[in-house]
Amino acid sequence: MGAKDFATLRTVSTGSWLRQSVHGRGLGKEMRAAVVLWAFDWLGAEVAESEAAAWNAASLGVSASLGYELNGITRKAWGTTVETLQHVRLSPETFNRPDWTLKVDGHEAAVKFLGIR
Ligand SMILES: CC(C)(COP(=O)(O)OP(=O)(O)OC[C@H]1O[C@@H](n2cnc3c(N)ncnc32)[C@H](O)[C@@H]1OP(=O)(O)O)[C@@H](O)C(=O)NCCC(=O)NCCS
Repeated sequence: MGAKDFATLRTVSTGSWLRQSVHGRGLGKEMRAAVVLWAFDWLGAEVAESEAAAWNAASLGVSASLGYELNGITRKAWGTTVETLQHVRLSPETFNRPDWTLKVDGHEAAVKFLGIR
């Protein structure tokens, strides 16, 4: 999870990678839900953004399942290849919250280190 000008924009972006042998077991959705819960409920984020190559059905599947809305496309150069990126956006109002409760360790130390609040 990353952010720029978080104190003003209250917006985070996320990216996630799992080893291939564990794809398709719900772990991607679970870990994205976990960081978004931390962002919304602990850090006071108002928007969570993400992006994926337009062909990346697994990443966009995670986003759709959690309630992200489509937020436009852009073109990006990956080496000499043009890639179409699909941007997505989630707010606390549209978030399909999981049925489990997030436990956070080290929150106070993290916000102190990051200089948030
Ligand atoms: C993207 C990634 C993190 C997704 O994690 P995952 O554990 O494979 O996905 P999950 O099993 O949690 O799937 C979550 C949802 O997406 C859907 N989904 C997963 N793979 C899908 C696919 N190939 N096509 C369509 N939907 C898919 C699932 O059906 C599920 O939705 P549901 O709960 O409504 O049924 C993982 O595939 C990955 O690490 N990929 C390589 C790195 C990458 O591309 N990262 C993103 C870069 S932007």
